Amino acid sequence: MSKLAGKVALVTGASKGIGAAIAKALAAEGAHVAVNYASSKAGADDVVKTIVAAGGKAIAVQGDVSKAEQAKGLVDATVKEFGRLDVLVNNSGVYEFGAIEEITEEHYHRQFNVNVLGLLLTTQAAVKHIGEGGSVINISSVVTSMAPPASAVYTGTKGAVDAINSVLAKELGPRKIRVNAILPGIIETEGTHTAGVIGSDFEHTAVAQTPLARIGQPDDIAKVAVFLASDDAGWLTGERLTAAGGFR
Ligand SMILES: NC(=O)c1ccc[n+]([C@@H]2O[C@H](COP(=O)([O-])OP(=O)(O)OC[C@H]3O[C@@H](n4cnc5c(N)ncnc54)[C@H](OP(=O)(O)O)[C@@H]3O)[C@@H](O)[C@H]2O)c1
Repeated sequence: MSKLAGKVALVTGASKGIGAAIAKALAAEGAHVAVNYASSKAGADDVVKTIVAAGGKAIAVQGDVSKAEQAKGLVDATVKEFGRLDVLVNNSGVYEFGAIEEITEEHYHRQFNVNVLGLLLTTQAAVKHIGEGGSVINISSVVTSMAPPASAVYTGTKGAVDAINSVLAKELGPRKIRVNAILPGIIETEGTHTAGVIGSDFEHTAVAQTPLARIGQPDDIAKVAVFLASDDAGWLTGERLTAAGGFR
């Protein structure tokens, strides 16, 4: 029996990378999935096509999570299409690295607006619909414990995500909504290719310090998301699961 049959999930930032893999994995376990994107319509349409070709149900939903009206709009579109909402995956995220001398207001606001404000606004809209047995999954990062140099703003956003994860687990627990975070290590995605992480000294050092001796792939994280969304994780809330092949 599929683990997520009858459930409806919204995955933010699912046009590519980790979000796309999570959307496909949730659908493979029977969930109906809303695939959110900000600008990459073609990417989101491809994810929907793959899910539908495999016999699943999915729609693409445009929306910038950092804008309250759009965050609400993408939740409403999900509920309008599928009639309910059980699982929210707050995956949308941007990362830019730079030393303290390079930090600007724009660098700060861009990352905090998407990674933190976007997560709050989307969760605010979603919990109007998520009922008992629902699950919110926040995609944080292993940077919150690793604290790599030249990442103060990005690491700050994910530290905030970890703290918010703990707060919301307590706040939503009485409503029987679970809230957990996944902390990926380096994952090969469009984003990490564009940011120059893949192939860099940083990647090679990380692999050398990773017990399982490789970087991650989006599916490594998608399997953890399926677990957290399912009743198998029914007694877990407020947890932060590091998924990094042992790298910390
Ligand atoms: N890759 C890693 O090594 C790694 C490690 C730890 C944590 N993470 C976290 O995992 C998440 C996904 O990372 P990734 O590497 O898969 O990223 P990615 O390949 O760059 O994809 C980012 C996704 O976020 C979406 N997005 C960006 N701004 C948005 C906005 N304002 N509203 C809605 N969606 C928006 C993008 O949509 P469009 O394409 O439509 O713009 C895209 O779907 C992020 O939260 C990241 O911080 C990644």
